[in-house]
Parts: sequence; C-alpha cells; structure tokens
Amino acid sequence: EKGGYDYFMLKEIDEQPGAVADTLRGHLLNGQIVLDEQRLDAQELRDVDKVFVVACGSSFHAGLIGKQAIEHWTRVPVEVELASEFRYRDPVLDRQTLVVAISQSGETADTLEAVRYARTQRAKVLAICNTNGAQIPRESDAVLYTHAGPEIGVASTKAFLAQIAAVELVGLALAQARGTKYVDEIQREFDALAAIPDQIARVLEQLDAVRAVAREIATSKAVLFLGRHVGYPVALEGALKLKELAYMHAEGFPAGELKHGPIALIEDGLPVVVIMPSPIGRPVLHQKMGSNIAEIKARGARTIVIAEEGDLVARSHADYLIEVPAVPTLLTPFVTTVPLQVLAAEIAQARGYDVDKPRNLAKSVTVE
Ligand code: M6R
Repeated sequence: EKGGYDYFMLKEIDEQPGAVADTLRGHLLNGQIVLDEQRLDAQELRDVDKVFVVACGSSFHAGLIGKQAIEHWTRVPVEVELASEFRYRDPVLDRQTLVVAISQSGETADTLEAVRYARTQRAKVLAICNTNGAQIPRESDAVLYTHAGPEIGVASTKAFLAQIAAVELVGLALAQARGTKYVDEIQREFDALAAIPDQIARVLEQLDAVRAVAREIATSKAVLFLGRHVGYPVALEGALKLKELAYMHAEGFPAGELKHGPIALIEDGLPVVVIMPSPIGRPVLHQKMGSNIAEIKARGARTIVIAEEGDLVARSHADYLIEVPAVPTLLTPFVTTVPLQVLAAEIAQARGYDVDKPRNLAKSVTVE
C-alpha cells in the first residue's frame, strides 16, 4: 500500500498536488465559496469582528499563514494561538468572535478543549479538519474539510498543504460574507489557488538540489530557518519537520529578529535555510532578506536559499540554491514548504531513521 515508496511520508509528499486540488474542489459554486457544514447564518458570519485560529504543531503553522490571507482579504483582526495556551489564559471572546480550529485528525485534545472553551464563551467555531465526523467538527458550528486523504506518516505533509488551502478558502468565505471582496475578486483568488497544484507538481519534479543539500548537511548538529511574512511560518514548519524526523536541533526565526539575539548562534559552517521573499511580490522584504543573508554569511553560515526562479540576489548569496516557481505571495507557502519536507525526510533517512514513525511521537495526540 506504500505504492512502491519506502515510506508513506514520501508517498504523501508526492500526493500534495491532488490533496490541494481535492480540497478546493466543490468549494466554489456559482461564484460563492461554500463550506461543507454550515450551522451559522449569513448574519452571524457578517457580524464576525475578530478571529482566533487555534491549533497545534503543523496545523498552527497553517493558521499563521491563514492569518495573513484572512486579514488581507477581510480586514478583520486575526490572532493565531497554540490551542494548549489559548484555553488556559483569559482570551477575549464573545458572540462576534469566530474561532477557527485547525486539526488534521480532528481529535487533538488540546484543540478540542480550546473549541469547548470557546463555545462556553459564546464564540462561533469553524473547524478545518481532514477526518470526516471527528470530534472537533462534530462540536463546531461550521466545517470545511480538507480532502488530503488519510495521512499515515506521523509528520504532516499533504494535510498541511491542504490546510493552507482550506484556511485561505475560509478567508474568502468571510470576505464574501462581509462584502470586503466582490464576486469577481473571489473568483480571481480562487483561480490563483486552483493553479497551485501544477506548481507544486513542478517543485516535486526538481528535487535534486534538495537531495544534494541533504547529503551535505546530514551530520550537522543544528539548522536554523529564516523567513519573513508568510515565509516565517514556513521556516517554523521546516524546523519542526527536521526536529521530528531527523532529531536535529532546528529553529525557525523571523529574519528581522536575527539582530535581536539569534545571530549570536551563527558560527562557522552552521547551515541556515532562508526562505526568500519574492523580488517582485515583496521587493522591500526581498531586499532586507538579501542583507540578512549577507550578515549571516559574513559570520560563516552555510546558506541554503529557497527562492523564486530567476532571483539573482538569491543566486549570488546562496551556497546552495533551491528554486521554486513564482506564485502570488500569499500562496508561496505551497511551493516553499515542499523542499523543506523533502530536506527533512532525506536527512532523516541519511541518519538511518524511520520517517513514518519518529520516536516519542503519536499521529494523533488525544491527551492534553
Ligand atoms: O491532528 P492535528 O492537526 O490536530 O495535529 C496537530 C499536531 O499534533 C501535528 O500537526 C503535529 O505537529 C505533526 N506531527 C506535525 O508534523
């Protein structure tokens, strides 16, 4: 059932174009974004004046990416919070708050308890879930299912990309309900999403550079990941994959924070993965990231740069360059995450680990 792959995870990485396409399918009907279950009326969605995304692990990273899209499209403030933190403080929630719970399994105890807490505060809950009929969607007011199919590998890959698609659809659904986007704009954003599976497929065809880097850094003690804007959650996700699978010390930072501390970690030969913003989509951030790379290189870092095809600044600064196709900024995590998944899987295999069953981890964490 691994279909010729050594590990489910490798198969699931390859299934990502389909996971995203299947998640989009059926969610735009007659120019309207539709959810799978909707026990909220139009007025309740229109009245939403604040969004909390609650999730754990990779699903939390999908939420951080979603925040950028939801705020951009709806102008509603969004906070993204780890489910295990959310319910043990005193978050400000009321009837006009929408809590978006993201969970592949739909059974994660921390997220489920956050949902229950939110409901006691009268907030509305929308679940993004990959498992039909799981507990979290059952206890929610609305549901959008990701259609990634069963994910066997403990490390989330295709479910994560499907979650990004889903949370962006939720952003469009809210924009539509609140009237902050016209029908033709929603259609345009949806079409851009629909073009993504082909771009992911292109990334999957060009992984030789990633494999070469993996061989080079497989024995390193630690790896840092730097990103900005939507590249920051991608950096966190890249670091999480490496921790889970290769048991390496890995950390993701927003590149702007470097000078506030983390730059002290840079030493000769330390591999640093940089997720480069697009030179066209985000020229200011691109330029700042160029300076960040120069700073860490001057201190001896080995730079592994994930950049848009044709980015000459990236090319000139990178010790190892991994190119991905150009896509709209909010959608770049779909293409920049894939090389990081493969990097972690390759390093783990080079170190002799089972990538489907990392030590100490369970696929679904049903205790708090
Ligand atoms: O099923 P969930 O999406 O609620 O799971 C959340 C996390 O436990 C999960 O994403 C975990 O971090 C993965 N092992 C990441 O690869």
